[in-house]
Amino acid sequence: MKATAKAHTNIALIKYWGKRDESLILPMNNSLSVTLDGFYTETTVEFQTELEQDSFILDGKVVTGKEYDRVTAFLDRIRKYAGKPDLYANVESTNHVPTAAGFASSASGFAALAASAVKALGLKISKEQLSILTRQGSGSACRSVFGGFVEWEKGSLEDGSDSYAVQVAPAEHWDIRVAAVVLSSKEKKVLSREGMKRTVETSPFYSSWVESIPHDLDNIKQGIRTKDFKKVGEIAEANCLKMHATTLAANPPFTYWHDTTMAVMRKVQDLRDKGIPAYFTIDAGPNVKVLYQPENEETIQTTLQEIPGVNDVIVSRTGQGVSYI
Ligand code: DP6
Repeated sequence: MKATAKAHTNIALIKYWGKRDESLILPMNNSLSVTLDGFYTETTVEFQTELEQDSFILDGKVVTGKEYDRVTAFLDRIRKYAGKPDLYANVESTNHVPTAAGFASSASGFAALAASAVKALGLKISKEQLSILTRQGSGSACRSVFGGFVEWEKGSLEDGSDSYAVQVAPAEHWDIRVAAVVLSSKEKKVLSREGMKRTVETSPFYSSWVESIPHDLDNIKQGIRTKDFKKVGEIAEANCLKMHATTLAANPPFTYWHDTTMAVMRKVQDLRDKGIPAYFTIDAGPNVKVLYQPENEETIQTTLQEIPGVNDVIVSRTGQGVSYI
């Protein structure tokens, strides 16, 4: 009853922003991401009949409090699914996601946890079903089950059985790169979960966001299929700006951007003016991710690194889906 799994994090080019069901984690809109090989989590789960509760060790440290509660609540769902509600586990995870990189380590974290728990319990399930289970830990994590370019279909059923990720194209289809620009600023104040809830409930821009998604998705998928970097970059950048615009109109209003976030955005636009195709995207935090093509890696890295307030620039290729070790 022991298994180890590895999952990579992902970055959304079309953002998941807003839930229609908070308990099952069902989104308002489809989203689309790239799985990244540079950032991953490895997790070992061992179920033991004599345990009276779960334990969770992350990067060698015992985890308690809210983070622990989220892991056990998620394992409860898997235990229930397996019909073994009283079987507890020791969970040990290692994050190869620089904590400050502003990548939701929860995406690779929940995908690795779901995959290892399911295997440890001997459940034979499809990738689709694994994505459904993973989704219930953290929405964006359901996309990390697959590698390459991945779409999370929102589904329409109330029980969430048609809300899962599907692969649009494998990692080998297209070598595009993502630079994570890590800022020296502190932790974010509004968590993504809280931020999207406030936006859905109060932002007058929210309905326009939802309405605009099918068009963005159709176009970006066409761009991915034809490897049209300009098209994919332009849609991703505009989609990101649109998502962040909804937060400015929320009540109370908020933004994830810091001064340096905007400086990086401006620098990316400068690069384009100089003929280097680069596009940015930003999740629910101040760090920026920059999309670029392999031949521009050096220029991108050195240019971004020079911006005052930037701590680090970590580059990544497209990565694979969950695997077992
Ligand atoms: C801005 O997946 O972290 O990164 O489902 O509440 O756990 P929960 O939220 P989470 O939200 C990610 C939001 C985002 C966009 C995205 O990854 O699509």
